[in-house]
Amino acid sequence: MTTTLRTVQPTLAETAQLMTGGGRGVLAADESIATMSSRLEAEGIPAGAATRRDYRELLLTADGLSDFVSGFILADETFGQELSDGRPFPEACRELGILPGIKVDTGTSLLPGQGGALITEGLDRLGARLASYAERGAAFAKWRAVIDITTITEYAMHVNAQALARYAALCHQNGIVPVVEPEVLCGGDHDLATCARVSRLALSSVFEELAVAGVDLSGIVLKPNFVTPGLDAPAASAHVVATATLEVLLGAVPATVPGIAFLSGGHPTADVCAFLSELNALPERPWNVTFSFGRALVSDALRAWAGDPANVTAAQRRLLDNCREAADALR
Ligand code: 13P
Repeated sequence: MTTTLRTVQPTLAETAQLMTGGGRGVLAADESIATMSSRLEAEGIPAGAATRRDYRELLLTADGLSDFVSGFILADETFGQELSDGRPFPEACRELGILPGIKVDTGTSLLPGQGGALITEGLDRLGARLASYAERGAAFAKWRAVIDITTITEYAMHVNAQALARYAALCHQNGIVPVVEPEVLCGGDHDLATCARVSRLALSSVFEELAVAGVDLSGIVLKPNFVTPGLDAPAASAHVVATATLEVLLGAVPATVPGIAFLSGGHPTADVCAFLSELNALPERPWNVTFSFGRALVSDALRAWAGDPANVTAAQRRLLDNCREAADALR
């Protein structure tokens, strides 16, 4: 008798659940080549493909990262690179018990006729690109729409939401969980009510377009901003931020969405962890709530590393401390 071995693929809903449940969150290490290079240079580290690779390897191989992190978002460059032991990054992620994700948008450009409002690019050939990423092991993808309170227009909000919905539908067609990220930027001196109003409009527009596009919400992860005053305005307490954030989310995000994973947006680590902790203490959350931070997890590690192999262990310790703090905020 012959036995056929079959790999059972998790469903999109199961993957979304794995990413956002179980007291873990997602680490965003998907800065574009330009952004990563400028962050390296700001720390006095010469930027190049090799240093970007070394830095991402340092992050991924921090011992015990998978205790806190369920998913690791890679940039296209890193997705195709190998660790120093020769394993491709997506394969190493899986071996470490972490789902590999891929940022698939290609950045923003000015939307003609809309003042300074931005549109996120990357829909051309996206289906073929997603098929290739899926073939090479990607479990999830990320697309970020950028909403600047000072320049956003109704039309810009709408076309960004439509692009997110087209991206999400294409992800599902290719067996990939879309992380849907409409980011209302926190730079500026606006008050919390303004952020709440714009965040509500952005989220409502996104869920309207997802519905029109026929996207099954049980297989997506939402990645929103916390509802806060602008970074140049007087700060609000973590409790006020959490309450305002939950109110906006409850008004716009259907309960069928399995998980919400917040971006950090430039807020300090301690602040976003406090927002998350307060949010988790509030009742009535129909979704998993977790983190998908970039800078709040990795900035300390980058500074500690400074491009010197002798500092790798110290840098990994800083990363793990921040990841532990974020994961503790989920308990
Ligand atoms: P930050 O947490 O640094 O905002 O990055 C998260 C992210 O993935 C932005 O797209």
